[in-house]
Amino acid sequence: VNLILLGPPGAGKGTQARMLEEAFGLVQLSTGDLLRGAVASGTPAGLAAKTVMDAGELVSDEIVLAVLKERLDGPDLAKGTILDGFPRTEAQARALDTLLAAKGQKIDAAISLKVEDEAMIARVAGRYTCAACGEGYHDDFKQPREEGMCDKCGGMEMKRRADDNAETVRTRLQAYHAQTAPLIEYYNARGTLTEVSAMGDITVIAADLDAIVGKLT
Ligand code: AP5
Ligand code: ZN
Repeated sequence: VNLILLGPPGAGKGTQARMLEEAFGLVQLSTGDLLRGAVASGTPAGLAAKTVMDAGELVSDEIVLAVLKERLDGPDLAKGTILDGFPRTEAQARALDTLLAAKGQKIDAAISLKVEDEAMIARVAGRYTCAACGEGYHDDFKQPREEGMCDKCGGMEMKRRADDNAETVRTRLQAYHAQTAPLIEYYNARGTLTEVSAMGDITVIAADLDAIVGKLT
């Protein structure tokens, strides 16, 4: 099963993808994480991506596709993937269809997480993650059981993203509306679109997604 989670910054794509991963044995594939990995290891793609990401703009389709292609061939993806933050442009969506078709696969569902812009700014601005395992937390909405310690792995180091400031989040939202939101119609036209409200509680949204994905697996 191959799923896409579509939605603006802070919609909860990463949060929900990690929960679906545990529930269904699918593998989360986040182009944001892949690009941050490339930045951290200083590869040519990472060096080119860094300034663009820090500004909140979209990285070129060429770089994103190169990073994704490499990962999409991973042997751990046999059961399927949850694409988180990809595709983000129509060119990426078309390239993805081609890549999957070559493997005899397709997109089974594109799930659009619907949220209000103001709520996004608050979610992204308060966010941090465990440096060791990547589990996500939030100053107001999701604190670890013990302050400063990861629930999942016991790690004691938390980190915040360079692009999670109010100004950059606004640019990221604009990029979403201009370049990514048209994909809702792209998948609607192909009969694979499902829309889910992502304004409620994390566990309520997770239950909605479980019901959708459960029918596909
Ligand atoms: P990326 O890493 O994909 O960031 P994003 O799309 O901006 O999404 P976020 O990770 O900010 O949000 P999310 O929806 O995953 O929310 P989360 O679950 O963390 O991309 C970063 C950059 O990389 C882009 O700007 C671009 O430059 C580049 N890039 C990546 N992919 C690309 C592509 N395909 N093409 C071109 N460029 C690309 O939740 C946010 C917070 O809210 C968390 O703290 C969470 O705990 C909390 N939260 C989650 N759900 C709820 C809820 N229901 N209620 C309250 N709080 C909640
Ligand atoms: Zn952890």
